Amino acid sequence: MQRRKMVAGNWKMHLNMEEACGLAERIKNAVDPDLDRDVLIAPSFTNLHSVKKVIEGSPIFLAAQNMNWEEKGAFTGDVSPLQIKDAGSTHVIIGHSERRHVFGETDGMLNKKVKAAVTHSITPILCIGETLEERESQKTYRVLETQLVKGLANLSENELSSLIIAYEPVWAIGTGKTATPEQAQDAHIFVRKKLSSMFSVSFGETIRILYGGSVKPENIDELMAQPDLDGVLVGGASLKAEGFSRIIHFQGVITG
Ligand code: 13P
Repeated sequence: MQRRKMVAGNWKMHLNMEEACGLAERIKNAVDPDLDRDVLIAPSFTNLHSVKKVIEGSPIFLAAQNMNWEEKGAFTGDVSPLQIKDAGSTHVIIGHSERRHVFGETDGMLNKKVKAAVTHSITPILCIGETLEERESQKTYRVLETQLVKGLANLSENELSSLIIAYEPVWAIGTGKTATPEQAQDAHIFVRKKLSSMFSVSFGETIRILYGGSVKPENIDELMAQPDLDGVLVGGASLKAEGFSRIIHFQGVITG
């Protein structure tokens, strides 16, 4: 099964408008329009619109890092699906571990966000992953299963046709401690099998699963050599154009 690879940069709560536009410009210059993989960047809400103007006409996709599930209303401080779309986003990151663990977002809330994203034709990137404690107590698969089952509850295969999953082990995020290619591959196989059993084998085979957690120019090639890694979601290393460009141009196996 050929799954188009994706390299995504999550800029988290970094960069002012000028810096964000400058970085977007440099990434745009590094991305060949005929590149055989997708490139996506996720700036802060306040920089979405300006960055969109910079990447207009390039193949780079734009994602918001979060959103509310309602279209509008009295939700001070939140941003709606309509608003992120209006600002130019085609994708949205949902349930990043920082949202789950720092802001207490639950699987039930994330399920509403996934539903809202697909309802508004926004591609959801649902993040899942275990903590170090969960891994060390052999609970990794149970945690991933719960996050998938609850996060995708009451949604059909058809509704989820654009879904992207990001496997981001919490212990690997921002720690410099990358999962080994084998650990990542094992988790991705588990996720794919679970999606196949929840929906259908063809669904499981089609859905792209990205790996995130201390991805760097130094480890991208060995990660992308794993057959079930369909791409990466990069934090810190996506903030420097040169390093991110190297990650975009990974040398791994291209066929999935
Ligand atoms: P780092 O690449 O900085 O570890 O962050 C990963 C991440 O959280 C991407 O969403």
